Amino acid sequence: MPFPLDRPRRLRRSAGLRRLTRETRLSTDQLVYPLFVAPGRNQQQEIASMPGQYRWSVDTAVSEAEDAAQLGIPAVLLFGLPEEKDPQGTGAYDASGIVQQAARAIKRSVPDLVVIADTCVCEYTSHGHCGVISESGNPDVENDATLELLARTAVSQADSGVDVIAPSDMMDGRVAAIRHALDERGFAGLPIISYAAKYASAFYGPFREAADSAPQFGDRRTYQMDPPNVREALREIALDLEEGADAVMVKPALAYLDVIRAARDRFDAPLAAYNVSGEYAMVKAAARNGWLDERRVVTEILTGIVRAGADIVITYHAKDIARWLRD
Ligand code: PBG
Repeated sequence: MPFPLDRPRRLRRSAGLRRLTRETRLSTDQLVYPLFVAPGRNQQQEIASMPGQYRWSVDTAVSEAEDAAQLGIPAVLLFGLPEEKDPQGTGAYDASGIVQQAARAIKRSVPDLVVIADTCVCEYTSHGHCGVISESGNPDVENDATLELLARTAVSQADSGVDVIAPSDMMDGRVAAIRHALDERGFAGLPIISYAAKYASAFYGPFREAADSAPQFGDRRTYQMDPPNVREALREIALDLEEGADAVMVKPALAYLDVIRAARDRFDAPLAAYNVSGEYAMVKAAARNGWLDERRVVTEILTGIVRAGADIVITYHAKDIARWLRD
């Protein structure tokens, strides 16, 4: 029996060798931590399907943002639960709306933390869709009327001091509309990270409970992408970049690692991936049952997302990972 000449196992012999030859490195610098902000004071209400995640009031959201910054996490992503919803989603662009208040308070307390605003209206509309529903009886979201609403929302978020606008609605032409409105209002320097390839996914279930944003009728399949498609994702990303997006996102992450890889290979813009609520819930449920080792599984998942090509990872595990990477 000849001995094998090539022995990949040589470089796996010790923890030190494995560290030296590691091809993918996960870093706290890549993390974005999502926060749900709700009305009230001194509130921290756990989200049932997302153990360890909460609806914060503005004051507790500030403490949580301070905590994240302390752990070295560079950015938070804000979602708002308004006091009241209406068919037009006017709460999205209210100067004293929930995200606007939270952004002001967080920037005051932790000025160096990057505050990203999710720009969408589904948390603010009574029907739960990501745009305007026509009164003519067509139960679909009206694209161009929604663009005005999104542009207005982005400008109001910019006014409140956010550092990044992140449109998540999937209307055609929204990046151009938002870019134009921001430029006109003196925010030419404010970056846009667009949810460019956002799929109509069942993995958003827990988020919709958290944000109370489930559509009251129909679903989002006429605006979010069809899961089997990858060429279409590249087309969406190309369009968003042409329209002025500074960075782009693929969402969800785990069932779409090939989309992340294809996007990385094709485009040079910074690429974000959203490790969404359902992906978080699955890990938490299994870990709580003692079926999986949470730390190892989360590290493996996040490393996989980065290995697939993501530069930035939006994840509810952010604080845990930051702690694990530090300890
Ligand atoms: C708003 C929005 C959603 C998510 C992020 N922004 C929900 C949706 O599109 O229904 C989902 C995030 C998650 O599941 O963690 N449009």
